[in-house]
This record gives sequence, C-alpha cells and structure tokens, in this order.
Amino acid sequence: MAVDLLLGLQWGDEGKGKIVDVLTKDYDIIARFQGGPNAGHTLEFDGIKHVLHTIPSGIFHKTAMNVVGNGVVIDPVIFKKELDALGKFNIDFKSKLLISRKAHLILPTHRLLDAASEASKGKAKIGSTLKGIGPTYMDKTGRNGMRIGDLELSDWKEKYRSLADKHEAMISFYNVDIQYDLPELETAFFEAVEELKQLTFIDSEEYLYQAQKEGKKILAEGAQGSLLDIDFGTYPFVTSSNTTAAGACTGLGVAPNQIGGVFGIFKAYTTRVGSGPFPTELFDADGETMGRVGNEFGATTGRPRRCGWLDLVALKYAVRVNGVTELMMMKGDVLSGFPKLKVCTAYQYKGETITHLPYNIEPENVTPIYTEMDGWDKDLTKMRSPEEFPEALNNYINYLEKELEVPIKIVSVGPDRTQTILR
Ligand code: GDP
Ligand code: IMO
Ligand code: MG
Repeated sequence: MAVDLLLGLQWGDEGKGKIVDVLTKDYDIIARFQGGPNAGHTLEFDGIKHVLHTIPSGIFHKTAMNVVGNGVVIDPVIFKKELDALGKFNIDFKSKLLISRKAHLILPTHRLLDAASEASKGKAKIGSTLKGIGPTYMDKTGRNGMRIGDLELSDWKEKYRSLADKHEAMISFYNVDIQYDLPELETAFFEAVEELKQLTFIDSEEYLYQAQKEGKKILAEGAQGSLLDIDFGTYPFVTSSNTTAAGACTGLGVAPNQIGGVFGIFKAYTTRVGSGPFPTELFDADGETMGRVGNEFGATTGRPRRCGWLDLVALKYAVRVNGVTELMMMKGDVLSGFPKLKVCTAYQYKGETITHLPYNIEPENVTPIYTEMDGWDKDLTKMRSPEEFPEALNNYINYLEKELEVPIKIVSVGPDRTQTILR
C-alpha cells in the first residue's frame, strides 16, 4: 500500500492541519516526517479550535494511529504542553501516539542557541520561531545530537550534561546579551522528559514498513512549506529540514517507490512569516485586508503574517520539486470582495522576463508581472458544493489548474472541518 503525502507549497501555514484532520477518516496512520514545534497546525471542529505543534493532526480521530517520525525534532517541554492541552479530550496517548526512537531532542540550550544566533545576526536575522530548530538539526547533522531512544539508556543525563555544557560555551561565543536561568529551564525539561517517557517509543521505519505490508493506509503530514525547504527554499531564510516530498522518505524511512499521492496545499493568495524575499508581498490596503480577513497571525508565535498575491512562478516550482499529483486550494473565502485579483505569472529580473525562481530573489532584482482576473463578491463560507461557486471563482480555479497542470481536488472556504469542498 502506497504512502500518500500532504505538504505545503508556499511559506507554510497553508492549512495543512485542517486538511490532514479532514482526510484522516480515510487513513489508518498519520505520520509527521520533519520539523518540530516551529509548526503550528490549526484544526477546527465542533466550535473548538486546536493548535498542534508536534503531534500529528490525526490525533482527534478514534481509529487513526499517529506517528512522530525520525525526521522530527521534539521539545519535551512543548510536547508536554500539547499533551496537557489535549487532556480533556480523553485521548489514549499511550496507544495512539507513537514516537520514533530516532527523532532528535530539542534541549533548552538549543533554544538559547537559536536566540543567540538570531541576536547576533541583527537585521539579517532569519526571523526564526526561536524554538531551537536550527541548532537541533545542526547537532543532528554534526552527529552530536540526542535522540528519543537515548532516553531509554541509563547514561542519558550524562550525555545531556556534556552537550548542554558545550552549548553554554557556544552561547558565550556569540557574545550577545541573552538572559536565561538554565537550572530553571532544566527542571522543566527533566520533568517533561519523564512525561514523554510514559509514551510509546518505536522503531518507526519498521512499524511503517509492517503497516504497509498489512495494507494499512498511511498519510505523511508535512510541516512548514516548500519555499522554506533547506535545499529548495529561499535560503538562508528557510527552516533546517527538507520540507519537500523527499523529506518524507528520509523522515519516515519510506522508500521513494512507495510514495503514492502527493497532495500539495496552497492558499489562494500568499503569506509569509519571518524574514526573507517575498516578491508578491503587498504593503497596501489589499495586503492589509488579506491579513485582517484571513486572520493571518502565526499559530506558533502570534506574529502577523506578511500577505500578497498568489505567485504562480513559485507555485509551479513547488509543484515540480514535489511531484504534486493533487492540489488543494485554501482560504478562497478570504478573497471575496476584491473586485480584481492578481496572479504573478513571471518576474522581471535584471531586465529580462523570466518564469523560473532565480538564485537570487532579492527585491531589488525581482519585480512581479501580474495577470489580472475578475474577483467575486459572494460569501463562500456557507457553500458546501462546487455547484454553488460563483463563475469568477470557477474561472480562478480553472486558470490555476491549467497553469499548474494538476487538478485542484479540494477547495476550502473556512477554517472548520465542514467548510471543505471536494471537486
Ligand atoms: P498549517 O500550518 O498549514 O496547518 O496552517 P495554520 O494552521 O498555521 O494556518 C492556517 C490558518 O487558516 C488557521 O488559522 C486555519 O484555521 C485557517 N484556515 C484553514 N483553511 C481555511 C479556509 O479555507 N478559510 C479560512 N478563512 N481560514 C482557513
Ligand atoms: P507550519 O508547519 C510558517 C519560518 C519562520 C522563519 C523560518 C525559520 O505551521 O506551516 P525556524 O524556527 O524553523 O528556524 O524558522 O521558517 N517557519 C514557519 N513559517 N509556518 C511554519 O510552520 C513555520 N515554521 C518555520 O517564521 O521564517
Ligand atoms: Mg502553521
């Protein structure tokens, strides 16, 4: 049985959590393959909004198993908070939530290193979520990291101490003013580790292999978005993992020939949180309207998201890099009321018109070239079938499908589970 993937095609926050929750009824296992608590995945149903950071978005369904894969980095303190927040929903975490022994641990000092690195960069900062993501993946690739499986060994605290001591020396090397109380952070960390140890640790690649053999349906849940990919994103303003389809293979141990559908999810416009290039960013009333109507504030950090028109150059690139087989368009409802909609189809780049993402996407090099389309007035949020769509929305969707050469199978018209329309 093939493993399907769902991943973001822009700079994150496309609505992955919502759609994974909607699709979970068709799957036996939901597995996160990369990223960590930098992610904020929002789900809404029965009038309640939930934000998940590390726990897969299938957790609210009775039958599905949820796996945190080896490619994920885990902060026990944030994980504990997530578990606590879900306490009232009677979820049997011990049997429904499985954690890869090979997933790496975010230590309190990784978070401090993230803060020190950002402070030292001044204006050139990445605008990271300050969750320690970069330093943790650096320790992983530097072969210094601590993994979940280490917590089952008797000497894990010694290992912890030597790594944390090294981090402290590195923090002082940055020579920036970072205030912290490490003993206090460590108390919270050790307490949270004990709670984490109550959960089930597994060799997830083996588990997923057996599940596949038994014909179980698996959906891999991505975090962040393709333009934040460490290799293919807008480097250095990216995250530290492979957010694109290949990341699911390395982040779960699923072989490339076992990947089935690749579901690419995008907003009907574009947002970005943190620093870095964003060619179609708007600084006018239209951008302000998108942010306000779309409630564009980071689910993890609360920072306002930068907003702009849909960028087809970037979207085509993401579709290609991921091998997307089905598209899902989110937040079309937010565009209701714009008399005209713009879609970027090419860039003016150093005097030339180009239709690919150049190496150097600095604002001074790149000017978006737009095509203009009619907008729609109607409120989409109460619609439940494509037959109700206004003609201008159908034109928008048909145009994008033609340009992207992939069908748009889901149109989302609001944050709730029920506001999801299949085409
Ligand atoms: P993720 O990180 O990809 O899971 O996305 P986030 O949860 O960070 O951000 C998406 C936001 O948009 C959340 O607040 C969702 O509740 C909300 N959302 C998802 N789909 C829709 C939609 O179709 N319309 C509107 N208005 N909001 C949506
Ligand atoms: P979800 O899964 C949007 C951004 C940060 C920053 C850059 C690096 O909710 O879509 P990091 O903390 O990873 O070192 O930050 O990446 N970023 C996200 N932006 N959605 C996310 O996740 C993000 N995770 C990281 O804002 O620009
Ligand atoms: Mg998010």
